[in-house]
Amino acid sequence: MADQVYIQDIASHVGEQVTMKGWLADKTDKGKLQFLRFRDGTGFIQAVVFQKEVSPETFEATKKLMQESSIIVTGVPRAEPRAPGGYELSVKDLQVVQFANDYPITPKDHGVEFLMANRHLWLRSPRQHAILRIRARIIKAIRDWFDNNGFLLVDTPVLTPAAVEGTTTLFETDYFGVPAYLTQSGQLYNEANAAAFGKVYCFGPTFRAEKSKTRRHLTEFWMVEPEWAYGTLDDYMRVGEEFVSYIVQTVLKERAEELKVLERDLTKLEKVTPPFPKISYTEAVEILHKNGFPDFPWGEDFGAPHETVISEQFDKPVFVHRYPAEIKAFYMAPDPNDPKVVLGADLLAPEGYGEIIGGGERSADLDYLEKQIAKHKLPKEAYEWYLDLRRYGTVPHSGFGLGIERTVAWICKLDHVRETIPYPRMLEKIYP
Ligand code: 4AD
Ligand code: MG
Repeated sequence: MADQVYIQDIASHVGEQVTMKGWLADKTDKGKLQFLRFRDGTGFIQAVVFQKEVSPETFEATKKLMQESSIIVTGVPRAEPRAPGGYELSVKDLQVVQFANDYPITPKDHGVEFLMANRHLWLRSPRQHAILRIRARIIKAIRDWFDNNGFLLVDTPVLTPAAVEGTTTLFETDYFGVPAYLTQSGQLYNEANAAAFGKVYCFGPTFRAEKSKTRRHLTEFWMVEPEWAYGTLDDYMRVGEEFVSYIVQTVLKERAEELKVLERDLTKLEKVTPPFPKISYTEAVEILHKNGFPDFPWGEDFGAPHETVISEQFDKPVFVHRYPAEIKAFYMAPDPNDPKVVLGADLLAPEGYGEIIGGGERSADLDYLEKQIAKHKLPKEAYEWYLDLRRYGTVPHSGFGLGIERTVAWICKLDHVRETIPYPRMLEKIYP
């Protein structure tokens, strides 16, 4: 028997006899002809079993096959423009590994609650397949971009003694008798790493005990965070627009098939090229005043409906910079020209997807940070190492964090982040 060939490599095996190992996704019975939709994890292919070309036992077994039965098929692939995927396999032999019965997810419509409870099986469907293949490609594009632009990967810890993004969303755990927290962001360690290595990034899971049920929030999500010494707010926005454009253009080029499965409007993504528009928080508030929120008070944080209105004014992602200091994290550098605002910026994605990046310039000033730590009622002892970075060779520096799931949701145009990660963790949801 020939070695196993995968569907993703089928183009280079046309006309040869091959063996493929996988599962039956679906079947159409046409009497003497059985049309199988066969999948092997790398793709889907139409496999045709013709009564005259296989043994009577094999044909009988094929007729009995139900969805998600595991099978090994041997046959000859050929180009077939009418078949989904462009190839068809004429089956010569079929071996049943297991006859599956009553697979819970049938081709009919199921409610999302049911599908989420069966997430471990739902992953086998073509739509989930497309989304998660795009996710993987986005992650590779992210790594490639940083690796090719002089950033060093330096990992940051998951278990930490202190908060980065406020104390209300901390997941606390017992660390041998003392409290520890699952990291909300690798940023504070990135700042130490940037002072050691110049340009760095970390990439890993981050955690927020978000008590709200929204289409944008997970309690466990992946974030990539670059940080670099001597970077300014303007440098960050330039890096951010180059980086995000590279991700989008790479997915357009390399995952066209998957975007098609998702029926994504590509013209919207094609527009995502540098430079991106950049407006101040104050200008964003003026947009709100003219577009349905006449009473929005300067100083308040934007919610999802506000972000949507702001981003609708542009056909590319938009940076909103210089937010009021009061609504941003303790570490943000105040603007020397107007200390009420900070040198931070969020990147809002188009089509109502809201904030996908948060970041900016960090305060390099020891006195200011000590006051901020006190003002935010943070335990100073836990931040002594962080303050050391301002005691020994402090420099202006910047960085940002891009949320993977929100980026995937936007590029795939999904209603909710729950489909962007294999096993989403949300309020009251940790199964399977
Ligand atoms: O704006 P955030 O909270 O920024 C930080 O954590 C900074 N310390 C990052 C840095 O400068 N190094 O989070 C950054 C991004 C958001 O823009 C969003 O894309 C994503 O992380 N994010 C979430 N994604 C899913 N679920 C949540 N609960 C998220 N919270 C933040
Ligand atoms: Mg933010």
